[in-house]
Amino acid sequence: MIVSGIMAQALTPTEDPAWLLRETGYELLRESTFETRFAISNGFLGVRGGLATHLGACRTILPRTYVAGLFDTPTPDSTVPELVPAADWLQVRILLPDGPMMRCPNRSSRALTLDMHRGILFTEARQSCNAPLDVYLRTLRLVSLDARAVGMQLIELQIENGVSDLTLEASFGPTDFELAPERAEPDLRAWRTWRSSRSLAIAAAASLHVDGVERAPTARGDLMWSWSWTASPGQVVSFQRIIAVTRHHSVDVHSGARARRELAAARALGWRGVIDRHEAAWAERWRSSDVQVEGDAAAQAALRYAIFHLNGAVNPADPQVSVAARALTGDDYRGHVFWDTEIFLLPFYTLTWPEAARTLLLYRYRTLDAARAKAAAMGWRGALYAWESADTGAEVTPAQTVGPDRKILDILCGSQEQHISADVAYAVWQYWQATSDEAFFCQAGAEIILETARFWASRAELEADGARHIRGVIGPDEYHESVDDNAYTNVMAQWNIERGLETASLLRERWPGIWNDLSERLGLDEVELKQWREAAETIAIGFDPETSLFEQFTGFSALEKIDLAAYAGRSVPMDVVLGRERTQRTQVIKQADVVALLALLPEIFPDAAGEKNFDYYEPRCGHGSSLSRALHGLAAARLGRPETALRYFRQAAAIDLADTHVAIGGGVHIAALGGVWLTAVFGFAGLSLRPDGLAFAPQLPEAWCKLEFRVHWQARQLRVTIDRTAQSLRVVLEKGSAMAIYIGEERYLAPAGEALALSLVHIRIQKIHGTPPFSPL
Ligand code: BGC
Repeated sequence: MIVSGIMAQALTPTEDPAWLLRETGYELLRESTFETRFAISNGFLGVRGGLATHLGACRTILPRTYVAGLFDTPTPDSTVPELVPAADWLQVRILLPDGPMMRCPNRSSRALTLDMHRGILFTEARQSCNAPLDVYLRTLRLVSLDARAVGMQLIELQIENGVSDLTLEASFGPTDFELAPERAEPDLRAWRTWRSSRSLAIAAAASLHVDGVERAPTARGDLMWSWSWTASPGQVVSFQRIIAVTRHHSVDVHSGARARRELAAARALGWRGVIDRHEAAWAERWRSSDVQVEGDAAAQAALRYAIFHLNGAVNPADPQVSVAARALTGDDYRGHVFWDTEIFLLPFYTLTWPEAARTLLLYRYRTLDAARAKAAAMGWRGALYAWESADTGAEVTPAQTVGPDRKILDILCGSQEQHISADVAYAVWQYWQATSDEAFFCQAGAEIILETARFWASRAELEADGARHIRGVIGPDEYHESVDDNAYTNVMAQWNIERGLETASLLRERWPGIWNDLSERLGLDEVELKQWREAAETIAIGFDPETSLFEQFTGFSALEKIDLAAYAGRSVPMDVVLGRERTQRTQVIKQADVVALLALLPEIFPDAAGEKNFDYYEPRCGHGSSLSRALHGLAAARLGRPETALRYFRQAAAIDLADTHVAIGGGVHIAALGGVWLTAVFGFAGLSLRPDGLAFAPQLPEAWCKLEFRVHWQARQLRVTIDRTAQSLRVVLEKGSAMAIYIGEERYLAPAGEALALSLVHIRIQKIHGTPPFSPL
């Protein structure tokens, strides 16, 4: 009978299964999926959920620890930087005299448990067949949300039967291919990137206890420890390793000093202290960002998983980096940052974690010069952000790729997918509306909005028909290249210019000194502002008042219509089914495009135009991008179609939780996860921002009895509860002074520290443009 070890409590996951994600068994072919799905991250370090211990025939497919911002180009002539993986710090071998233990683990005993509440990954396995020892193995790993440089691994071995000499060897994986070694000492290693002059240091400490008594290592090397002893039944062996990782943006001879300091601080806390602080940081994040759904356990699980990854993807202390398309969970897209961050993730951060949102937007401010340089190089004014951005903000979209038919394809997004500039401005404006963060707006946000507005005003050219056109672009629907007047691009451009004009008036009125300095520095005068006004008024937006439809781009409606229903059940994207050239000649859309516009700017769709555009474009969309379904869900919910929205919500969640889109070995689809939250809060709760408060237009699907979440708004925190059973909406202002709550056009006052309860009885909730659906209690 095993006495529980010193780590027993730490190694036991939260009891409530609603906080756990669990998989059992081992299948080599699905292992990379698990490694992604069970990845953990703190926005600085990201660790995939691979095996730490060698388990016989079970092996890790892609062991990876990512360090945010550690970019390098893979070869001297490459111009496309990639996130460089750090040394795999989790490696452990457990050896019997004749070779590795766990040569024959009971595969079905292997379990992975992601404890989302505590931000910890647990694993377990049992050695069973014909081995000299019967062993039960449990592990814990975390990357601290409290001290982001710190990672920790705990392993407990319970010897259930048998007597044998045993060795536990802890080491680090090789990195020499990716990183040039700089220093190697017993407790520290430092490297530099081969070409980009970044440096990386890892300091580490490890120890082993047998039945609560610490053992000195039998052998020691650089970041390597080995202990040998005689194992006997009832023994409990506890191993712990703490690491501290630092990244410097220069090759620094002292790069190890900070890693050592961070490690010393963590060791002073001890493993229990590290866990306590990490869990307290997670508890704080969950307090601000959890979304609770009653009546739909699958939706609850999907939201928890999405919010877990969203909270883990960002580091509010580091404006050098932003969130990549696969966050810090996989190699796909090389750690590059896309519009995914501003459109799919920023709303979550802005409303639940404004400090994190601010940092992500400061990354765009830091890379504004690169965006100016890109615009200038292409012959335009202002700022054109990189479609794919790494650490400097330079355009890093690869020029070519290999298509599904193994042919080399040119990628035009780097030069043509320009809506990114308006997307960044959209996120800045949304943050400003939601936070009133004057320091950010005056020092960074306003300049981004002005420079992106300036880009569009120069980009949209006046033609003989008296309209301004934006030719030769790619909209969100990347199946169609070099198109003219993409509705999403043009309307967002128009919106961006209008916000530029609004920003100029606001600065002039409220902060004339700042306006004088900024306008002088940017060389922005009245003549130019007048030209912006004319540009905004004359941009072609492709809206046909007869049909109420936006044409996705000039000539779209004349393309061949394909009945996508005839391809239901296909397992590959439509551009693979039809071939690239054929797809370009059809109306098959890769992802929400006009529907994306409807999700972001519903107010520009007059009367029933929202429904009409949704009904026209939805059957034409092949959802060839993981971003597509979430925006359809959001748009559908706001149109008052909660069951359609729920279908999209479930499909977006299934991308990472059920491998429905493509294999997920390359990392989680963080934009889709952001979209899951967006659909719940902006969709089903119908949240929108107003100058003096927040508006709601709840549309819960049948299965959801109750939806509850918290949001921040202008230094306040609110708890919002929508109860279908009680037919009520309740807002509790938990922090900050009284504010306005709108239901439709009806305005109510939420008093400080109290609840505002509104009845939904007898009220059919209308789409957001509809009549006010609520009456006061
Ligand atoms: C999508 C883009 C997206 C990128 C990264 C592409 O497949 O079409 O919209 O930004 O993936 O997620």
